[in-house]
Amino acid sequence: STNDEEELSDEFKELLLSLPKERGWRTSHIYLYQEFWCQPKEIQAIINFQQHFQARDSDLILVTMPKSGTTWLKAMAFAVLNRKSFSISKNHPLLTSNPHDLVPFLEYKLYANNQLPDLSMLPQPRLLATHVPFSSLPASIKNSDCRIVYWCRNPLDTFVSSWHFLMKVRPETLGPISIEEGFEMYCRGAMAFGPFWKHMLEYWNESLEPPNKMLFMKYEDAKEDPVFQLKRLANFLGVPFSFEEEREGVAEEISRLCSFENLKNLEVNQTGRSIGYFENKNLFRTGVVGDWVNHLTPSMAGQIFQIMKGKLAGSGLEF
Ligand code: A3P
Repeated sequence: STNDEEELSDEFKELLLSLPKERGWRTSHIYLYQEFWCQPKEIQAIINFQQHFQARDSDLILVTMPKSGTTWLKAMAFAVLNRKSFSISKNHPLLTSNPHDLVPFLEYKLYANNQLPDLSMLPQPRLLATHVPFSSLPASIKNSDCRIVYWCRNPLDTFVSSWHFLMKVRPETLGPISIEEGFEMYCRGAMAFGPFWKHMLEYWNESLEPPNKMLFMKYEDAKEDPVFQLKRLANFLGVPFSFEEEREGVAEEISRLCSFENLKNLEVNQTGRSIGYFENKNLFRTGVVGDWVNHLTPSMAGQIFQIMKGKLAGSGLEF
């Protein structure tokens, strides 16, 4: 509703008053907290997460930008990590649960609503997810030996995916945002967890530094060769595929299980809800690379290419 800020504590409302704000996407406003844009309830959850989360050396943390393919990464990481516990073709949890219910978000789920979750209940190693930028992660994530998988997607497709998704979940009372308006906001960085270039660059630069605690992945690479990327992921998570598994084609099976076509058509993803109240079906749209050509004018595309050229110059990160 447009009254999304009413339930917040007075202390938190006070903080919000001190932050720069912009027109919001799912809420009336978004705010600039620690140099990234975010919704009020999420900022509250992130502060809770920052203050209370204690990383363990064995933790595995998936980090993404919204709409970059988080659902897919969660599915693959869960399937790779738990492949000894479940048969891939029969009764696999991914056949009856949405990936977001198997790999919880720290800010949308575990630390939401001022909860202090008991994380000792989670299976070991703990597989967790977040959209929080590197510079705003709790210190214990940076200081422990936990591992981070960072995953991103080319910004043109990420924007198109975000705009379609947000227009589906945006409260009607807030009125629509045209693709042109949305685009202009995206290019200024004013979309959840944006600016997108800062999010990607912080993790990219960090992934180049020793120790080897971060794996950098891209949606486009996984689309091109999902089996190869699954093997990279398995190696990094500490559960490489054995020769026997290679012979049996286990990575190929996991790749099929996690494919867009397979997940999208499951009943749980057609009719269920996760991350609170989202309809799972909204998490699956086209699942292709390059759909931006169908939605952005050449001039809009040119603007993003210009931004990428300027912001990513010299970093080695390319799309
Ligand atoms: P499109 O809107 O371009 O189709 P997120 O999971 O971070 O919310 O990202 C959603 C995007 O990932 C959507 O992109 C969605 O279709 C795509 N997606 C979801 N599951 C996928 C899968 N198993 N394989 C490939 N893409 C997937």
